[in-house]
Amino acid sequence: MAASSHRLVKLALALLAASKAFADDGPVNPGFEAGNLQGWQVVSGNAFGDRSVSDAASYWGGPFYQDQKFFILGAAQAGEAAVGELKSGSFKASSVLSFLVGGGYDPDNLYIGLVRDRDGKLLLKQTATNDEALIRIVWDTSKWSGQMVHIVIHDSSTSESWGHINFDDLRVGPRALGNGRGLTFHVIGQSNQPGPNKSSVCSRYAADPMRPQYHYTPYQGWINDPAGLAQWNGRHHLFSQFYPDSPFWGPMHWAHAESTDAVHWRELPVALSPKKTSQPGDQSGRFTGSAMVQGGKLHLVFTDFVDTAAHPGAVQESVVVASSSDGVTFTLDSRNPVIPGPPAGAPAFFRDPKVFHDPTDNSWKVAIGASNNAQGQVRLYRSTTSDPFSWSDVGVMYTGDGSTGAVWECPNFFPLGDKWVLFYGGNALGWYETGTFNGTVFKSEKRGLVDAGPASYAMQWYKDESGRNLAITWMGNWPTSKWPSRVNGWAGQQSITRELFLRADGGLGSRPIAELDRLASGPAKRLGPLQVGEAALTIGNTSTARLKLTVNLGASTASAFTLALFQSRAESTLLTYNKGSRTLTLDTNNAGYGQAGKWEAVIAVPADNKLALDIFLDRSVLEVFAGDGTVMSATVWPRYRESTGISLVGRDGAVAVAAVSLTPLGSSWC
Ligand SMILES: *[C@@H]1O[C@H](CO)[C@@H](O)[C@H](O)[C@H]1NC(C)=O
Ligand SMILES: *[C@@H]1O[C@H](CO)[C@@H](O)[C@H](O)[C@H]1NC(C)=O
Ligand SMILES: *[C@@H]1O[C@H](CO)[C@@H](O)[C@H](O)[C@H]1NC(C)=O
Repeated sequence: MAASSHRLVKLALALLAASKAFADDGPVNPGFEAGNLQGWQVVSGNAFGDRSVSDAASYWGGPFYQDQKFFILGAAQAGEAAVGELKSGSFKASSVLSFLVGGGYDPDNLYIGLVRDRDGKLLLKQTATNDEALIRIVWDTSKWSGQMVHIVIHDSSTSESWGHINFDDLRVGPRALGNGRGLTFHVIGQSNQPGPNKSSVCSRYAADPMRPQYHYTPYQGWINDPAGLAQWNGRHHLFSQFYPDSPFWGPMHWAHAESTDAVHWRELPVALSPKKTSQPGDQSGRFTGSAMVQGGKLHLVFTDFVDTAAHPGAVQESVVVASSSDGVTFTLDSRNPVIPGPPAGAPAFFRDPKVFHDPTDNSWKVAIGASNNAQGQVRLYRSTTSDPFSWSDVGVMYTGDGSTGAVWECPNFFPLGDKWVLFYGGNALGWYETGTFNGTVFKSEKRGLVDAGPASYAMQWYKDESGRNLAITWMGNWPTSKWPSRVNGWAGQQSITRELFLRADGGLGSRPIAELDRLASGPAKRLGPLQVGEAALTIGNTSTARLKLTVNLGASTASAFTLALFQSRAESTLLTYNKGSRTLTLDTNNAGYGQAGKWEAVIAVPADNKLALDIFLDRSVLEVFAGDGTVMSATVWPRYRESTGISLVGRDGAVAVAAVSLTPLGSSWC
């Protein structure tokens, strides 16, 4: 018995060793650490060669994030336009494989492919994201386990811009799933995505580790500006600028979702599609606009954008209307365009009509983003028929000083308290101004950023049926090339629904709407009151949750405190409050695949000297609301499944925590 069990143990050990050797047996030189192409073969073209093996650490957008020293930098050998293919040595497929990919997005011409030796069949492929930095793709290769395969690095793109693909660190076998130091890679990559029709939105979104669970995202493709926000017959309508065919901006459609509580969404058919065109590369589409509830109908009043490269001589931007009596199907009105373009002599830039009701003369008006070539402007029109079909030009309502952009888009204008609020997009940022309005001209008294974080643009306001002033912002991040979810086929997310209010200092404030409480998927974990010093307090371990923290600043001896979110041993997103400067700083320099940087806002502390933070975590989305109405929106893209920690630490003393609550949140789709 003893002897045979000893033999069994030996056999098991031998098998384990053999399976380990087998499982880890990828091709030779899987991460190019030989410093050259040893083991790899140039199959065709001149895109790849010895110079492709690079040890460059960073580029204009930050680090490449290669594994160890060397990787394939696709443009290094012969430039962007060169084409070619590089193939690895053969190896036996195990059940899983992973690698790093960066460079251009072009599913047909730029990809990493898994090819079966026997018949040359391309089994799986993955393109990049139009960013140089490398992202870890994990493939389920169990269907071909045991078969001889190889990897190809394929570049048939002749484009001078993003015409190359980067690659590193092929891992075969168990190592494919983690770094071996207790960190497990998120399983991402388009080849692993359940198709749109294979499962419900709820389970499909749950399966994507990058996918926010309660922020609106497109099922595939790209979204930007929220549009047409309205509550009509009890239902909230959220439309989004949408391009379904790739996770990049393209000819604009309007995606459509509805909700009974502005929290849980149901996807409806695409509301608007671009005109059919026979011109290749025609970018004409249905740009941003707003909703007007009138005469028992939901009207969409929006910019019809005509690509003048494809249609020379056409008016680039005019205002058109599509109407619906069922809230699902929208029909373009025969009276279009209702505003045929900007006034004679004005620049062609004339977009994003936002309808509002003006109590100063009890009329419907529309604010339109414009420019005098040097400064952003808002133009105003007044409805002559109390419907969206006939407008008279009121004139320029407001001209900026130029510092917030030479052109403005997505203007919103409405009364709030005893002020009027104007907000708009300029210089790729969202600005607000508060002031007064006499029915024709706005006078600004105060200006600021709508959002202190890196990921907010094109916010849209609407008034709900209970009279609240609500808003949703696109959590897109213009200045950066970091859109890691493109590897999963989608890009862009909308914020949670926010309620707007006037801050004590006359600025524009945001707070989460009360209905968000309905997202709770379990009881809150509550801590406090307690003192937290320089030993970190673990608050929890989740990335789909709401965290509320109240700190009694008067009773705190710490000079600062830091909340670490999306935290593991390898990475975290840091939110630091500094008592002396009263600043809240968001630091994403070590947060994962997303934009690295720091953003800061001064937080007004109330008379009771208690600082309140209300924080929404949603896998790749972060929204931080401070008690004074400051909001910081960001996207973060952790690399590791373990990056879900939440902790608090004080600096140079103790933080007097009045209360902490951590509530798990569920999905908007289930
Ligand atoms: C899959 O779902 C999409 C979106 O709902 C729909 O437009 C499409 O027709 C469906 N395709 C199939 C093959 O069912
Ligand atoms: C509004 O103010 C502007 C600028 O002061 C003035 O020209 C205009 O006549 C005023 N309009 C009304 C309706 O009072
Ligand atoms: C936190 O959660 C992650 C993901 O569920 C898990 O992998 C990790 O072990 C957890 N860490 C701790 C400290 O509980």
